[in-house]
Amino acid sequence: RRTVKRALEAFRSGKPVLIHDFDDREGETDLVYPAAAVTSQHVSRLRNDAGGLICVALAYEIAEAFELPFLSEEISHPVSETGHLGYDDRSSFSLPVNHRDTRTGITDHDRALTISELGRAATDPDSIDFASTFRSPGHVHLLKAADGLLSRRQGHTELGIALANAAGREPAVVVCEMVDDETGAARSRESAIQYANEHGFPFVDGTTLINDLP
Ligand code: 5RP
Ligand code: ZN
Ligand code: CA
Ligand code: ZN
Repeated sequence: RRTVKRALEAFRSGKPVLIHDFDDREGETDLVYPAAAVTSQHVSRLRNDAGGLICVALAYEIAEAFELPFLSEEISHPVSETGHLGYDDRSSFSLPVNHRDTRTGITDHDRALTISELGRAATDPDSIDFASTFRSPGHVHLLKAADGLLSRRQGHTELGIALANAAGREPAVVVCEMVDDETGAARSRESAIQYANEHGFPFVDGTTLINDLP
């Protein structure tokens, strides 16, 4: 319970949490921040210290309000595949977006704007016209949580949104996988815990979140 309490406190104050899913799923640790709190320094940490793909997960209801689909259901090209992931039934990918006030979309400043404005949009979805605020293609991958959240899927997408909900944060989180610079593999659980301790960031795993989130 103490680890979940620390994670909730961190999230409430806009600080990051490391989330390991399950050894028998991806077996990966994502660095996760509440989206509205993200600055360009945080994007720099995500790409330098995490190194995976920087994505923003949105609650199902928010994605629906913005008419954001699951990408797998939109691709008509023969590359389209569903149900062959190996570690899960389907991907949570939706569209990749940029805020319309970005230029190339990739700089730390541009991505911080896109991510933090997605957080702001999720706080009050009725206050924005999504299509006139964001454009796609873009450089921040959106993830759409499952309808029914953790009862339907237990990816970082749903674990992150469940943490945000319990912390009373906006239902939008930025996630990025921790990749090991030495081995090129996913950073091990032990190594991710060491990184978390060095930086004073809470580390939680999927089982703990599922059992102990209020
Ligand atoms: C996008 C991914 C990551 O695994 C991310 O953690 C979200 O996916 P999931 O909900 O499947 O864990 O593939 O970079
Ligand atoms: Zn993944
Ligand atoms: Ca690095
Ligand atoms: Zn994941």
